[in-house]
Amino acid sequence: MPYRLLSKLSFVSNIIFGIFVLKYFLYMLHYFQQSIEKLKSENRYRDFLDISRLCGKFPSAINNRNGKEIVVWCSNDYLGMGQSKYAIESAVKALNEYGVGAGGTRNISGNNHEVVKLEQELAKLHDKEAALTFVSGYTANDATIQTLAKIIPNLVVFSDSKNHASIITGIRNSKLEKHVFAHNDVENLEDLLSKYPKEQPKIIIFESVYSMDGDFGKIAEIVDLAKKYNALTYIDEVHGVGIYGNRGGGLTQELGFADKIDIIQATFAKSFGTIGGYIVAKAEIIDAIRGNASGFIFSTALPPVIAAATLSNVRHLQNSQIERQKMRQNVKKLKEELKKINADIVPNNSHIVSVRIGDAAKAKKISERLLNEFDIYVQHINYPTVAKGDERLRITITPLHTDEMIQNLIEALKITL
Ligand SMILES: Cc1ncc(COP(=O)(O)O)c(C=O)c1O
Repeated sequence: MPYRLLSKLSFVSNIIFGIFVLKYFLYMLHYFQQSIEKLKSENRYRDFLDISRLCGKFPSAINNRNGKEIVVWCSNDYLGMGQSKYAIESAVKALNEYGVGAGGTRNISGNNHEVVKLEQELAKLHDKEAALTFVSGYTANDATIQTLAKIIPNLVVFSDSKNHASIITGIRNSKLEKHVFAHNDVENLEDLLSKYPKEQPKIIIFESVYSMDGDFGKIAEIVDLAKKYNALTYIDEVHGVGIYGNRGGGLTQELGFADKIDIIQATFAKSFGTIGGYIVAKAEIIDAIRGNASGFIFSTALPPVIAAATLSNVRHLQNSQIERQKMRQNVKKLKEELKKINADIVPNNSHIVSVRIGDAAKAKKISERLLNEFDIYVQHINYPTVAKGDERLRITITPLHTDEMIQNLIEALKITL
């Protein structure tokens, strides 16, 4: 065949193949488009606000959509420690000494000394023998719970129905036999526990402070049941550390139960103002998780700069009561003011202030109005974070919110609620 004819044929076949690939790509893309449409039709499409948190001015930030300064009322930097001068000084020092990254997984690149020091401090904070850090609180839950299945044969899990997604994922990935007990319903939990012989390995997994309703887990009752039915206990203190306990060791510390809980899990990303997660427990438990947890072994360690900043904040909050006290005063004041305007506050004794709206579109609209008309940022919370019909504004007040900011929020809510 002449060369020109051959090259024409090859050109045509390339075009046909190209059209086929493009058609196939467009066909696959429609699944993503459908998924986006579904989210939009259910008012679940998430629009993330582009903000710049201002160091030294928290809770103020810049709304990068219009360049205006806003007051943030929905940060989980509960105590404003993200801008703590102690953490920044330590971070800068660590940055200059060790650079930016971690250099690899701890398994193949060694333990950064800052991480070693942080883990020692965390064990001390919770009066436990050892600690293990992870890249996030999510990973700490997911990786630890999955790993329990490798370590304890025939373990049965008893999990509170309002446990966080990271716990649910960990349980699912563990493939362990599981029972979900009604939220904080210790009778239901006992019913389930009592169906198993005493020698059957069991673990009860629950939280100290539930993040959406801000209610407390039934620590004392669950510890009693665990003793009665020979079960291990695992508590998520993500929303408790820093704020509760005279050294910031969480609700388990405040109520004197830290030594009765087998595994305490928490995060650095909320009250400690940085990022990362951890567990504390007896040395053998930590050692076994360390050696078996895929999410720990195959993931790069926390960078020394983060470990150093976190260590400073953890140490500071062990000694200082100022942030906790001021926050409590502010929470009380805000709840009183909200009651005066008849806001439907979810009742609790914690720092989380949830105002029920009960309609996804309405919650979104209020949140948009607060931002656009009043430069107030309160993220609306919709399904699947909360059940449909239970949509709300989740307000978090820090020690750094002023009386004037509280008044401005109340005035804006009077108009928008
Ligand atoms: C109860 C609970 N556990 C775990 C996590 C995950 O923690 P992190 O944000 O550090 O991944 C969260 C996050 O909000 C949480 O609310």
